[in-house]
Amino acid sequence: MPDHRVAVTAVDFSDPQLVDDYLDLLDAYARDPMGGGVGLTDAVRTRLPIDLASNPAAHVLLARDASGAVGMATCFVGYSTFRALPLLNIHDIAVLPRARGRGVAKALFAAISALADRLNCCKLTLEVRTDTTVARQLYQRQGFVPASCSLFMEKPIGRRNADPSGELL
Ligand SMILES: CC(C)(COP(=O)(O)OP(=O)(O)OC[C@H]1O[C@@H](n2cnc3c(N)ncnc32)[C@H](O)[C@@H]1OP(=O)(O)O)[C@@H](O)C(=O)NCCC(=O)NCCS
Repeated sequence: MPDHRVAVTAVDFSDPQLVDDYLDLLDAYARDPMGGGVGLTDAVRTRLPIDLASNPAAHVLLARDASGAVGMATCFVGYSTFRALPLLNIHDIAVLPRARGRGVAKALFAAISALADRLNCCKLTLEVRTDTTVARQLYQRQGFVPASCSLFMEKPIGRRNADPSGELL
């Protein structure tokens, strides 16, 4: 009988094994249709851990079961001006296909909520694709509701966007 117990820990960016585990999970998510279907470039794999390690607002969590690292969440502390309190944004959350449906994401959410409490955050935020029933169901079960009348928008800027491979360093 496989052991499905899940432990969630923060990534220590001075540990190359943990960094590799995180990048492999993020790469698997990026390759997933829900992540856009394109894996991480070498340049991103190099730059991302350096940037995250030096960003005090970044919090990266890894979920492990007996088979190793199976899920991850990348969160950033933001700020609510209306509440004058920090908030925690869940930028990425994903679980390897082989480990899905066993409560790994729920364990990540429990750790994220505990982290947000410790940081005195007034809320958790995230963006979700409108075409993912599974993730939307998960978020609803976790107590998330659509922000009233909000629509997430973006505008690519900067010279890095001229090179979609992200190879510019
Ligand atoms: C979304 C995702 C993170 C869920 O991870 P998971 O570890 O399988 O989720 P859990 O086993 O912890 O399940 C938590 C809840 O999610 C929902 N859920 C999970 N799998 C589901 C499925 N196949 N169908 C419907 N709901 C599902 C359920 O509400 C479940 O709660 P319940 O068991 O109390 O009913 C995972 O499917 C994934 O990585 N998907 C690809 C990446 C992605 O879509 N990320 C979010 C981008 S917005």
